[in-house]
Amino acid sequence: MNTFVQNQTSMKFFIDTANLDQIKEAQDLGVLDGVTTNPSLMAKEGIHGDARVKQHYIDICNIVDGDVSAEVISTDFAGMVREGEALAALHPQIVVKVPMIKDGIKAIKYFSDKGIRTNCTLIFSAGQALIAAKAGATYVSPFLGRLDDNSTDGMDLIAQIRLIYDNYMFDTQILAASIRHTMHIVRCAEEGADVATCPLSAILGLLNHPLTDIGLAKFLADFEANK
Ligand code: E4P
Repeated sequence: MNTFVQNQTSMKFFIDTANLDQIKEAQDLGVLDGVTTNPSLMAKEGIHGDARVKQHYIDICNIVDGDVSAEVISTDFAGMVREGEALAALHPQIVVKVPMIKDGIKAIKYFSDKGIRTNCTLIFSAGQALIAAKAGATYVSPFLGRLDDNSTDGMDLIAQIRLIYDNYMFDTQILAASIRHTMHIVRCAEEGADVATCPLSAILGLLNHPLTDIGLAKFLADFEANK
C-alpha cells in the first residue's frame, strides 16, 4: 500500500455500463459520480446507429450528474477528431474516450488544447499512462481485470501510475477500469485511484457482510422479544 496524500475528498464511483436501469439504480443509491461506456457495452444494450447512440449518451447524461465517457470508433486522427467533437457537443458531461494508439495520443493533445475532456482507454502499462498524461488526458483507464486475467497483477499498475503522476503532479486522473469484484474497488482505494468504474454488482457487493445480516437479525429479534 502506498502513502500518497490524496487531494480529493474520496475516490469517485463510476458505473461501467450502458444499461439505463442499472445506471438509475446506482444513481438512486446516492453514490454515483459518473458513467463509462464502450462499444461492447453499447452493443450489449442493442444500441446502434449514429442517432440512437447519440440519444443514448444524452439519456445517460440526464440520469447522472457526473462525467459520461463516450468512445470514438475511428482509429485515425481526423476521424477521432470529427467523432470526438460531435460527441463532446452532445452534452457538457461527455468525456471523449480515445484508444491508446499513436493517433489517439495526437487526438488527446488536440482535444486537450481545445478544452475537450478525454479518457484514454485500453491502458496496460505505466509508459502508456505517462504519455497519455503528457498529451493532456483528463482520465486514463488502466484495465485491472484484463491484466489479472493474464497473470499480471493489475493493482501493481495502479500503484505505479499513482507514483509517476504524484512525482510530477500530473492532473490526469487514474480511472481504474475492468473491475470485476469488490476487492478490486477496495484495493483501488488503498492505492489511490481517483476513480473506480465498476459493474453494479461490484458496487452493491460493497454492502455485504454476513455478520451485518446476523447482527441485524439479532437486534430485531431482541427488540421483538422485549416488547
Ligand atoms: C472501462 O472503461 C472499460 O470499458 C471496461 O471497464 C472494460 O471492462 P471489461 O474488461 O470487464 O470488459
